[in-house]
Amino acid sequence: MRSKLKEIYDPTHFRQLGHTLIDLLADHHEASLNAETPRSFPWEPPDTQLQFWEALDKEPTTPEDLFQHILSRSITIHDPRYIGHQVGMPAPTGVLFSLLSSYLNNGMAVYEMGMAANCLEKLIIDECCTRFGLGAHSGGLLTSGGTLANLTAMLSARRAMEDRWRGKTPAILVSEEAHYCIARAAKTMGWPPEAVIHVPTDADFRMQTERLESLYKQAMERGQQVIAVVGCACSTSTGSYDDLEAIADFCEQHDLWFHVDGAHGAAVVFSHTHAHLLKGAERANSIVLDFHKLLMAPALATALLYKNNQDSFRTFEQESAYLLDLQQDWYNSGKRTFECTKYMICAKIYGIVKTHGWDAFGENVDELYENARTFATSIAQRENLVLGAPVQSNILCFRFVEEGLTQEESNAQNAFIRQAIIERGEYYIVQTLLRGYRFLRLAVMNPFTTLTQFEELCTQIESYAKAWHESQ
Ligand SMILES: Cc1ncc(COP(=O)(O)O)c(C=O)c1O
Repeated sequence: MRSKLKEIYDPTHFRQLGHTLIDLLADHHEASLNAETPRSFPWEPPDTQLQFWEALDKEPTTPEDLFQHILSRSITIHDPRYIGHQVGMPAPTGVLFSLLSSYLNNGMAVYEMGMAANCLEKLIIDECCTRFGLGAHSGGLLTSGGTLANLTAMLSARRAMEDRWRGKTPAILVSEEAHYCIARAAKTMGWPPEAVIHVPTDADFRMQTERLESLYKQAMERGQQVIAVVGCACSTSTGSYDDLEAIADFCEQHDLWFHVDGAHGAAVVFSHTHAHLLKGAERANSIVLDFHKLLMAPALATALLYKNNQDSFRTFEQESAYLLDLQQDWYNSGKRTFECTKYMICAKIYGIVKTHGWDAFGENVDELYENARTFATSIAQRENLVLGAPVQSNILCFRFVEEGLTQEESNAQNAFIRQAIIERGEYYIVQTLLRGYRFLRLAVMNPFTTLTQFEELCTQIESYAKAWHESQ
């Protein structure tokens, strides 16, 4: 045995380093929650950042030092002043169970390599199907992220609707506000761009479902065969929920596949207060739900649920000499997912559930949604800040407005504000374009973010709006 390998797998080293890392993370966690971590969002231009790593690369570095360097040069989601992208603050329990999964490294696609994993995955999926009310024949799987889950759902729809679109060009109807991964899924399936038919949204950024019928007819007249409608629950930019009941009615009427992209907002299924936003989702053929957004699991952790579990088996249906056969068995989850070596996603979800209870998910959602509403009320009280859309979730879009500025100038001013905020590094926020206007976009992901912190952010925004004039 080569000595290098003995060193790599030495249990004593593993134990010591593991203790060091957990102590470091626990200290960091405590300081982060109290917003005491220096430079939680240490923005640097890419070339400057790269220079640091290139210099370090030339030096010997201990793992302990490397832990510190990576921590101090990354975004601290656990700091309540993180109000940026829709990546959730992972529960420490979930982090620890991720470590367990990484240690085990059981590629769980087949039962014999994932005995515990395939059973835990089934428990999670069954509970989700029950919560969504998908019925007795439902089922599903866990996979690596909403993007892959949406692609998988589109592949399932294409497979299930094969008899309808053969010899024609398949197409899907989807809100103009849908996440880009839906169009990417169509592209991945080899469909032309016009296969994704965008349904306009109303003033609140919700799909104009009354337009579905005419868009459907026009597509059919052009020789396209619409096979599915995708509803947003909720949309990415503004967090708006489509009228899923209206979409379900339309799909039933035309016998189409109804898919709900609930990567972000289907998490309300666990909330007693906000579950009504999903009315109609129980009639969907497929639903995507990310656990790494609103449900506290470390990324990636996504459920793809089906009303008819058989559809999940038909997506990839194939035989391979050493691994796969055509039996529809629940315990070989790789038959239904893209992944071959499949990470034990279930452990981090189930670890959270078993430790803190399923209700923990609803509590997180309620806290975040309520905080977003409180922050929206505070925006309404400020003279120069206006909301871009009613707040239906934990996503807030607003912009600084000033009389006398053109749209272009106003956009430049808001872009300047957002850049100044991230370069200052005390808060982390993102931005979006809504109907040609640049908006500051906040996803309230951390339940510890306070109104006082939010108001301090608004004050910084106002002062950078003034600074923009000076920079001109
Ligand atoms: C509505 C929606 N769908 C899909 C995705 C993609 O999910 P993931 O980042 O897990 O691939 C996102 C991500 O923000 C989203 O908001």
